[in-house]
Amino acid sequence: MIELSRVNKIYNQGKANEVHALRDIDLAVEQGEMVCLQGASGSGKSTLLSIIGCVFGPTSGRAVIGGKPLSRLPDRFLTIHRRNTIGFIFQQFNLIAALSVLDNVCLPLLPLGVAPGERKKKGEELLERFGLSHRIGFRADQISGGEMQRVAIARALVNDPPIILADEPTAHLDTRLSREFMEIMAELKKGGKTIVIASHDELVTACGAIDRIIAVRDGRITEG
Ligand SMILES: Nc1ncnc2c1ncn2[C@@H]1O[C@H](COP(=O)(O)OP(=O)(O)OP(=O)(O)O)[C@@H](O)[C@H]1O
Ligand SMILES: [Mg+2]
Repeated sequence: MIELSRVNKIYNQGKANEVHALRDIDLAVEQGEMVCLQGASGSGKSTLLSIIGCVFGPTSGRAVIGGKPLSRLPDRFLTIHRRNTIGFIFQQFNLIAALSVLDNVCLPLLPLGVAPGERKKKGEELLERFGLSHRIGFRADQISGGEMQRVAIARALVNDPPIILADEPTAHLDTRLSREFMEIMAELKKGGKTIVIASHDELVTACGAIDRIIAVRDGRITEG
């Protein structure tokens, strides 16, 4: 599902502020695997997630995500591929405060041209699955942290992507909610999703459902 070979990412190439963020990364993640990226701050975890998440292609090397080689896709197609293939969960959840819970969840369906009735139905189904039916019309900034987390997961799932990525998803959660987050991830894995989580939270790394820990150091994979 994810295949990287000799992937390099250089930010601001050729300029004074050039950063060589990823160096010769080789990584393969099979469908239905759940792996964790672990490494110090600045080691390149978010950059690696951005390439897997089709946010940008590598500076050099080959990245095949969900069956498509990124280097051959022009930007516009990269965006389309990302919308169809990737569900992203962020550290701060990135919900839009002024929108309702339902509108936040349905947001990824807008650029896909899904009809309004169908969007609403999908959003409602997911919110029900996560026990949030009673919060559907609430503004996203008027719900609890745990509810925000589940709304963010619902939003990442609404387009039914094969790949779920999460960047430090438990950083703002207490122990109970972090456990709950990993339980939901384990369930999604059982459903065949491929999952990559960047985290140094022990609750994540020690979770039995994680198949592999991938150690990232100075832009290289040193283990896993
Ligand atoms: N947009 C950018 N432009 C220039 N340099 C960047 C950019 N994003 C990240 N970097 C640099 O690339 C390197 C890797 O950053 P990255 O965000 O991938 O690390 P990280 O492992 O996710 O760190 P953290 O644990 O702090 O989130 C760092 O040196 C960082 O300063
Ligand atoms: Mg990061």
